[in-house]
Amino acid sequence: MTDLIHAIPYDLLRGLHLLAVIAWMAGLLMLPRLFAYHAEAARGGELELKMTEGARRVMAVILNPAMIATWVLGLAMLWARGWETAMQPWMVAKLVLVLALSGYHGMLAGARRRFAAGERPGSSRRWRMLNEVPFLIAIAVVLLVTLEPTF
Ligand code: HEM
Repeated sequence: MTDLIHAIPYDLLRGLHLLAVIAWMAGLLMLPRLFAYHAEAARGGELELKMTEGARRVMAVILNPAMIATWVLGLAMLWARGWETAMQPWMVAKLVLVLALSGYHGMLAGARRRFAAGERPGSSRRWRMLNEVPFLIAIAVVLLVTLEPTF
């Protein structure tokens, strides 16, 4: 396992990690917007149908694969760099925030299933407001990695 990870250039892992992060964030920002439109749509209408199918696709094609790729590539880099990096306070803080982001992802997955089952979990206004959360977490995560602050 270690040999396999060391055979892949570290900077390639880093680039792929960033691409996966971009896709994950795009999905996390897109889905609540679809929920907001769904929450306002007439029941049984065309818009409701479109938002249900759109949300299913965003989850299956963007969000789930991107989250898995972000985790796998990030953990591969951690493995390559060793425990010392994993134990740095900025990295621990980053991982806590990324766990929160993964929890947010899980909450969206649950809401998507409820919308698909005909429920209306949360108002349009709530989904629009929640939309700010992943971006605020992402700002903190990116600055933790680039500034590597000591606490
Ligand atoms: C899912 C779990 C994640 C793990 C285990 C992880 C781990 C890592 C590791 C080990 C590095 C290399 C650090 C270095 O070489 O200096 C890295 C780079 C980076 N990560 Fe993550 N990461 C994860 C998720 C995320 C997320 C969600 C974001 C953004 C929202 C993110 C943003 C970045 C950025 C911007 C870099 C590049 C930093 C640089 O090149 O200086 N990561 N990550």
